[in-house]
This record gives sequence, C-alpha cells and structure tokens, in this order.
Amino acid sequence: MDQQKKNEIFENAKAWVLEAGERIKNNIDSPRSIETKSNPNDLVTEMDQETEQFFAKKINDTYPDHYLLGEEGFGDEIEDLGGTVWIVDPIDGTMNFVHQKRNFAISVGVYFDGVGEIGLIYNVMDGVLYSAKRGEGAYRNEEKLPQLSEERPLNQSILALNTSWLIPENPHVDHKGMEDLVKKLRSTRSYGSAALEFAFVAEGLLDGYLTMTLMPWDYAAGSIIVREVGGIVTRADREDLDLLNKTTVLASRSNIHEEISKDYVRLKK
Ligand code: IPD
Ligand code: CA
Ligand code: CA
Ligand code: CA
Repeated sequence: MDQQKKNEIFENAKAWVLEAGERIKNNIDSPRSIETKSNPNDLVTEMDQETEQFFAKKINDTYPDHYLLGEEGFGDEIEDLGGTVWIVDPIDGTMNFVHQKRNFAISVGVYFDGVGEIGLIYNVMDGVLYSAKRGEGAYRNEEKLPQLSEERPLNQSILALNTSWLIPENPHVDHKGMEDLVKKLRSTRSYGSAALEFAFVAEGLLDGYLTMTLMPWDYAAGSIIVREVGGIVTRADREDLDLLNKTTVLASRSNIHEEISKDYVRLKK
C-alpha cells in the first residue's frame, strides 16, 4: 500500500474511532436495548449496531471501493481479502459494556490484499488508543511501545485464558495439557475483551493470550499491534490465521510461543 495513502487512511480511521468512542462514552448511562444472538449470553445492544453503522457510512462515503467486514452485519459479504478491507468490531467486550460499563474496546484493522496494514484498539472508558502501522511500531496513545522482552520464561509468565473452555464439556482442547499449562504459569487472567487482551500483550502487561474461538474482527487489529512489538500471533497450533473464519489464536512474546503450543495445547479435532 502506498505510504501516503496509508497515512491518510490511518488518520481517518483514528478520527472515526475517537468519534465513535466519544458517542459511546456520552451514552454510557442511557437506557440500553439488549438482545441476544446465538445463545442467551451472546449479547448485542443498539450501541454495537449504531457504532458499526457509523463506520459503514464513513467508509462507504470516503472510500467507496473499500470493503467492510463487521460483526453486526452492516458491512459486505466478503469471500476473499482482495483490495482494501476494513475489519471492524464496533464494541469488543459487549458483556463488559452491558454489565460493567467499562473494559470494552473498538477494534479496527485495515487489510490490503490480505496483509494487515493498520490496527487500532480504543479502550473507550480509559481513553487509551493502541495503534500500529505495519513496519512502523506500535503506540499507546502518543507513546511508542517498546519491543517485548524475550527473556522471561514460562514459569514467570501471565497468560490470558478464557476459563469457559476449561469446563468438562468443552470440545476444543485436551484438559490435561491445559492443567499442566496453568500449573507451569505464574498466573492467568481473563478480561472479557479479546481486543484488550491483545493490547495488553502488546503493552507487556500480559505475556500471552490463548483462546479457542475468535472471529476475524476480534483479532484483526490486535494481531497487527502485537506483531509490531515483536510478538508472535498464530492459530493455537502455530498455523497461519485464517481471516475469514472462526479460529483458535495464540498471541505471545516470541520466546514462549512455541513452548505453549507444542508442549501444552492439544487441540481436539
Ligand atoms: C467477545 C469478546 C470475548 C471473547 C469472545 C468474543 P464481543 O467479543 O472478545 O472476550 O472471549 O470470543 O466473541 O462479542 O464482545 O465483541
Ligand atoms: Ca458479539
Ligand atoms: Ca469481539
Ligand atoms: Ca462485538
């Protein structure tokens, strides 16, 4: 992607993310319309929908030849990643948004012919914007994030894990391996927003994030930002991510990535 064009898209994306965040913040105490999607705990609100519509309009008005892949369905039906594709999660961490009124983020990744060029994650209530352009490093607000340490071993690491896939019925992963991993780690955390978990890995607050089911909009921005500080982002079995389908994800500092995947994660077919 042409550098000048990339800079322009970045500045627009950033302005829209901040504007959308402001609207959410200003309406945080308004009455919510809460609906459920695939199950009673899969929530969506009018704010998720309005925010995605806001991005759909901005992108369509400014860049009619770009595509939008969004969680709430106001974008395009995408079959491949040719051209410029915006991958948007209008509110990542909707459950936190509803129950806690904090700990949620807007996530925007811009891809050109399948390559992640721009990533933005906005922690709305904290007013913290994580951003990256491919090859130019990652930022927390205006501050450049340092490269991640490659020193700290697994037994001194904190990994974000979602405990819901550790329940006995969970079909994704062998539990003995996960038990051994939890024993080996210094500790685990679960924040309830994939985008923020990526941002915290990039910031060095977490050493890694392992999850069994993410959609493209959950990690489109986060994977770009984590890679810009030297982290590794793949499927849990170390294969390349598939941006068009549901996937497992392991994002971490480079020195523990292979060890977690190879020695502990045994995915069930
Ligand atoms: C969810 C959050 C959550 C993750 C789920 C996602 P949403 O996104 O990122 O942390 O565990 O897999 O679906 O629905 O709040 O945008
Ligand atoms: Ca959702
Ligand atoms: Ca999400
Ligand atoms: Ca969402």
